[in-house]
Amino acid sequence: MLDVENISTYYGNACALYDVSFSVTENEIVSIIGANGAGKSTLMKSVMGTVRPREGKIVYKGKDITHVQTHKIVKSGIVYVPEGRDVFTKLSVEDNLTMGAYSKPAKAKELNALHEEMYEMFPRLKERRKQMAGTLSGGEQQMLAIARGLMSKPDLIMFDEPSLGLAPIIVDEVFDRIQAINKRMGISVVLVEQNAFMALSISSRCYVLENGKVAMQGKSSELIDDETVKSAYLGM
Ligand SMILES: Nc1ncnc2c1ncn2[C@@H]1O[C@H](COP(=O)(O)OP(=O)(O)O)[C@@H](O)[C@H]1O
Ligand SMILES: [Mg+2]
Repeated sequence: MLDVENISTYYGNACALYDVSFSVTENEIVSIIGANGAGKSTLMKSVMGTVRPREGKIVYKGKDITHVQTHKIVKSGIVYVPEGRDVFTKLSVEDNLTMGAYSKPAKAKELNALHEEMYEMFPRLKERRKQMAGTLSGGEQQMLAIARGLMSKPDLIMFDEPSLGLAPIIVDEVFDRIQAINKRMGISVVLVEQNAFMALSISSRCYVLENGKVAMQGKSSELIDDETVKSAYLGM
């Protein structure tokens, strides 16, 4: 479904990603783990076209999207839920959701149905639909960021550190929703996490990024027992 082939991405002269390849197949949850500054967000942004790789190629559903504009990439079915949630704090929950559908203008009826679908999945958002997003708790804002991403009906959704700064019980809820999005809605997922244990627990495959390079990759069930991964990322 998504094939990132040997990309290198720079900020000015500084190399943030070097010769990175990764892939996602239909209906899969793939995780990407790595320390702060490893290049995880840069990888997501390279896929979305908000930063452009200097070398390599990105292919989505058989089409080269390496140079395609970001809004067209969203329209073609990929959504990125950025680090730090980034909801529109001055807009209501409802209006945040509506904004999420901007790339695929929908008729009022269809838009309503989409809202209802999100409220079913995230009941707390329904209770708070008229509230300004900035007044929500961190966990609720994360749920809103996820729901807003789903409003464009993606085939592939990429989450950037969705558990960051959330209380453990809320983290469980977020991961539960992410699994539901994958299983119930049939959406492929890329999960970028510093919470390596959680990421490995819910993904089928995982890539470990170190200093802008893929240091390891494999089945999550195998990496979770790997001694190097254990000591470097699982604190064991
Ligand atoms: N906008 C930017 N300008 C310059 N350097 C950046 C920018 N964003 C990230 N970097 C650098 O690129 C490297 C990778 O960053 P990032 O992709 O954010 O890592 P991660 O998401 O894994 O924490 C880091 O060295 C970081 O300092
Ligand atoms: Mg990051």
